[in-house]
Amino acid sequence: MSIDNSFQHLLAIKDLSREQIETIFRTADEFIQDTEIINDPRLRGIKVANLFYEPSTRTRLTFEIAAKSLAADSINLNIATSSAQKGESLIDTLQNLEAMGIKMFVIRHFANGAPQFFATHVKQGNSVINAGDGSHEHPTQALLDMATLRRYYGRDFSQFKVAIIGDVLHSRVARSQIYALKKLGTCDIRIIAPETLVPQDIESLEVKYFSDLREGLQGVNVILCLRLQKERMDKGLIPSEQEFFNLYGISKKSLNYAEKDAVVLHPGPVNRGVEIASDVINSSQSLILKQVTQGIAVRMAVMTLCQQKG
Ligand code: CP
Repeated sequence: MSIDNSFQHLLAIKDLSREQIETIFRTADEFIQDTEIINDPRLRGIKVANLFYEPSTRTRLTFEIAAKSLAADSINLNIATSSAQKGESLIDTLQNLEAMGIKMFVIRHFANGAPQFFATHVKQGNSVINAGDGSHEHPTQALLDMATLRRYYGRDFSQFKVAIIGDVLHSRVARSQIYALKKLGTCDIRIIAPETLVPQDIESLEVKYFSDLREGLQGVNVILCLRLQKERMDKGLIPSEQEFFNLYGISKKSLNYAEKDAVVLHPGPVNRGVEIASDVINSSQSLILKQVTQGIAVRMAVMTLCQQKG
């Protein structure tokens, strides 16, 4: 008897089993060959709406490309010129879009839990995919990060020694990455950050904390940089961007503290010279642009698996 690893909604990595994550990887493999995305009309005729209440380049466009590659009808609601500006509630927006025949909702929202709220109100059979909510989770980012590591860094996840560096306090990406790594069998997960950028509930994440970059990078073979989220930051959390780079930036010099074959990932958008130096971004150790392409295949997989359940 085959096990059904599909799901109606993708709201959080916390909700997924290891088997479901591995099913997403295997499904994504069907949609990418080398660096080429393979078109497959599995979602022909399905209407998908992208609702981005916060800015995005990578996530919005790769969801749109993913939908088009699956022959779905992808619609972008421009929130800045939508009736959200006149005070229309999320529920009213949702019900009106459903009345237009939309079956799948990709939502990014500044409020923690907004996609979950959507999911409890959609019609039976319709799907919601979380494209990043507040500081809660960004599940497809973590999935594409893990899929990139699986594809380009041929080791078992149990052999990874991972450092997540920077603004963990405001990061939905870091949370999703930690949950995904644990589910896939990684035990050695470290956070490297100034104390001002560490969440109060760090103990509940069950990771090792280092305030010193050199110490934290000893033996590490996977470096996950985070973006400094200046838009969510009160003044005074870091002395200056230059100081942050001096202490926590990934440069050719600081990369030497890690294992020789360590790989570097960043979800983007990158603040060059703040989180990471340009020569590292352009080096063979960087998987940053591979993450972006892999993101299309992973998002195609997520949409396909949601539709199977719907
Ligand atoms: N990584 C990420 O979510 O990038 P965008 O904000 O450009 O979508």
